[in-house]
Amino acid sequence: MIIKEIPVTKEIPVTKGLPLIGNVADFFARGPLAFLTKLQTEFGDVAGFSFFGQKSVLISHPKDIERVLLETGKYFYKGYDATFVVHLVLGNGLASSEGEFWRRQRKLAQPAFHHERISAYADTIMHFTKQLLQSWQDGEVRDVHQDMMFLTQQIVAKILLDIDVTDEARDVGQAFDVIQQEMSTELMGWRLFLPRFVSSPGRVRLHAAVNHLEQILRSTIKERRTTSNNHNDLLAILMEARDDDGNGMTDQQLRDEMMTFYFAGFETTANTLSWAWLLLSCNSDTRAKLEAELEHTLGGSYLTFRDVRALSYTEAIFKETLRLYSPGWSAGRFASEDVEINGYKVSKGTEIWMSSWVTHRDPRWFSSPQTFIPERWLDGLEKRIPRYAYFPFGGGSRICIGSSLAQLAFTLILSTIAQHYRLEVLPDQIIEPEAGITLRPKHGIKVRIHQR
Ligand code: HEM
Repeated sequence: MIIKEIPVTKEIPVTKGLPLIGNVADFFARGPLAFLTKLQTEFGDVAGFSFFGQKSVLISHPKDIERVLLETGKYFYKGYDATFVVHLVLGNGLASSEGEFWRRQRKLAQPAFHHERISAYADTIMHFTKQLLQSWQDGEVRDVHQDMMFLTQQIVAKILLDIDVTDEARDVGQAFDVIQQEMSTELMGWRLFLPRFVSSPGRVRLHAAVNHLEQILRSTIKERRTTSNNHNDLLAILMEARDDDGNGMTDQQLRDEMMTFYFAGFETTANTLSWAWLLLSCNSDTRAKLEAELEHTLGGSYLTFRDVRALSYTEAIFKETLRLYSPGWSAGRFASEDVEINGYKVSKGTEIWMSSWVTHRDPRWFSSPQTFIPERWLDGLEKRIPRYAYFPFGGGSRICIGSSLAQLAFTLILSTIAQHYRLEVLPDQIIEPEAGITLRPKHGIKVRIHQR
């Protein structure tokens, strides 16, 4: 008797590409967001493509995303080591390290993001927000994205290193700016394909900025190790942290984590705020409800850490902004062995893409998916949809460590500004989401500000 073997896995449907380069040209011609959306529309929940021979697959079903996120460290890994710019800037920090090294670092860093620690950052956030408001004039036109970028940069620099990039540490802020711009070109621009040993003016600028920051970080760490440490910043908390064997972080680890928190923290939060201002300006009903909630909860007073929980409509705006414009528009993993996903064979070394841009706009989970409706989060939607239909902060063990801090900063900044100003987005401009390291408005967002 012959028992015919039943194949348990199917071959992944793959979109056609060009010889050698695969789908690179299409990816850049359409832009990452349109490319991934088209892929899912045409091929469904598991869709294959390739870049220069690197097999890749976009997975879009929440069950599959859940599996990959929860099994990272087992069958999947992040694989950032291979990216020269990540290695150069973030080193072996939390976002880029793997395995036991990552586990120990995460355990050491976690207490810095506990509820009571985070509450201490509220004063810093409010201080810089009020400072920004003082510089605004009724009726003037501003690029609110630039304002949000500078504001969150000031906040993150103060929280991390107790420095003020407004004045005495302006060069630190400039070095961070250079790195952030050059990282974008390295990861999502033409230099992605330039061999790492080839120099270019941008790479020279990048190395100079990294060296400059490195010197500052190292001398700050050295100074803190030799003098009594009375700073109340994240660096101080990390320097005090000890693992089960009583060992702390080395200078190199501290340097890597400072760089990581900076780059993971400031642009993501700024972008979320910028997108929220755009959405609020285009949806006057939502803005009116936000203003009513603020009036009802706070009267004319400023928001404090304790009031944040009472602002349920503001929280819904945060969630809905992150649904439509999640700064982490795509997360990636590599398969560490041959695996099966949703009945498809995914071979070892395949890069797996999970795009919140695509899944958050899927009509199976969100009705009117392109429309901004904060109210959808107020009636238990999260319990009705699959857990990973919505994953702005990732999931599993590699979930964003800074999500509570991001939500706190968003709430304090949005509500403080909304209490004092109405932002009207100017009509004659193109607002284009650009999927770089994070999802940002490519040409900024010009607004006219009206004092309330
Ligand atoms: C709205 C703001 C933010 C968004 C949307 C966001 C999103 C994310 C996402 C999606 C991941 C997971 C990436 C993956 O699985 O590959 C992540 C990881 C991470 N985020 Fe955030 N993030 C935000 C704010 C912050 C802040 C404020 C900090 C810290 C100051 C931070 C620090 C990190 C770190 C260190 C990781 C890596 C964690 C690990 O692998 O253990 N993030 N973030």
